[in-house]
Amino acid sequence: MRKQTIVTMPGDGIGNQVLPEAIRVLDAVGFEANYVHADIGWECWTKEGNALPARTVELLRQHKVGLFGAITSKPKKEAEAELTPALKGKGYQYFSPIVSMRQIFNLDVCMRPCLSFPGNPLNFIRKKPGGGFEEPRVDVVVFRQNTEGLYAGVEWTNPPQAVRDALRTHAKYKPFADIASEDLAISVRIVTRPAARRICTAAFEHARKFGYKSVTICEKPNVLRETSGLMEEVAREVQTQYSDIPLWSTNIDAQTMWLTKNPEDYGVMVASNLFGDVISDAFAGLVGGLGFAASGNIGEEVAVFEPTHGSAPKYAELDPPIVNPIAMILSAAMMLDHLGKNDRACRIRSAIAEVVAEGRVRTYDMLRIPGGAKSLAQGAASTTEMTDAIIAKLGATVEELMSVGSGRAGL
Ligand code: NAI
Ligand code: MG
Repeated sequence: MRKQTIVTMPGDGIGNQVLPEAIRVLDAVGFEANYVHADIGWECWTKEGNALPARTVELLRQHKVGLFGAITSKPKKEAEAELTPALKGKGYQYFSPIVSMRQIFNLDVCMRPCLSFPGNPLNFIRKKPGGGFEEPRVDVVVFRQNTEGLYAGVEWTNPPQAVRDALRTHAKYKPFADIASEDLAISVRIVTRPAARRICTAAFEHARKFGYKSVTICEKPNVLRETSGLMEEVAREVQTQYSDIPLWSTNIDAQTMWLTKNPEDYGVMVASNLFGDVISDAFAGLVGGLGFAASGNIGEEVAVFEPTHGSAPKYAELDPPIVNPIAMILSAAMMLDHLGKNDRACRIRSAIAEVVAEGRVRTYDMLRIPGGAKSLAQGAASTTEMTDAIIAKLGATVEELMSVGSGRAGL
């Protein structure tokens, strides 16, 4: 069989520290692949005026699967100021390469598993009614629509007259009709039926494949009657094909309250772009935060896997590096699931589970100490030490792992 080629995009800052660690783990678990480096991020912007160069797009088009670290982005004025002098004033505009990637390849399904590893000191705990504490097991997978909604980018400050005229046809626009255009900012929330159907179907498929007991659509249809209304309508329609899996419906505001009350009650969540972004971060906070939050951006042809965290510039220059590589390694495991190598993905997740449960090797975030050059002297493991510990646990066989029920994508 031909070896799979993976496009690696470390990007900026700590992306360069964690991505090579994920590849070490992939090698150690026996995943044979060719890795081809692709440029992305701030340096591409400052030198070429494009954070996602055409050559990177071409590599993704060719090889279909990408592993991505993180990028740095900065506000408009700073971005322009950092352009190389030859490009300044030539009309170059910064666009987030992640958003561009999602749009170019229609990576419309964003999957974010939030699974608590027992023994992680960052796990959410709550008081028991009779005294003491308990740690609910969180095993949630958020499916976030990745290309539409409020993040579609259809927005204006000082909207053109034609937009204002169109809005005037809506009765509810009346209170805003006389506001000066320069005092007005508008972002459009767009939901289409085909994209809603794809994200809802992906959520139900995942629930069925991995035995989750419910799918929850998390929107706000009582207020956002049209866009959230359409999401709900489509979720109901899709559910009819999955009669064994109930559809629950929650409102985004109430959901953020309930998820600290009874997080163990939820399984698969599905939401539009902004709400999915919010609830996935909220659930991630219950299971270890940015050091543990992995994600996949999945289209019909191309898929890119990345940790949720950014480039953490303040730690990027530390040698040895101190950041937690687990989010990136879990993202690589999701990539293996996507490539049909679930057994290897499970071995990686089980190795991480063992390291976390043992508690001997912990990066600074897991110790709840400030990050910095001094963290290691205070007992924190470095990035490479954490990876080494995970690799050392990869020995277990697939049969051993299946016997402890770790076939789920979550673990
Ligand atoms: P960030 O995620 O880079 O870092 C926030 C803080 O979280 C860090 O200072 C650190 O304390 C902690 N942290 C992040 N990753 C960690 C890890 N692996 N292990 C341990 N601790 C970790 O977000 P921030 O500071 O808001 O943004 C920094 C840059 O990253 C910005 O330029 C931002 O635009 C960009 N960014 C990029 C993202 C991406 O590439 N997907 C996502 C979020 C931000
Ligand atoms: Mg976010």
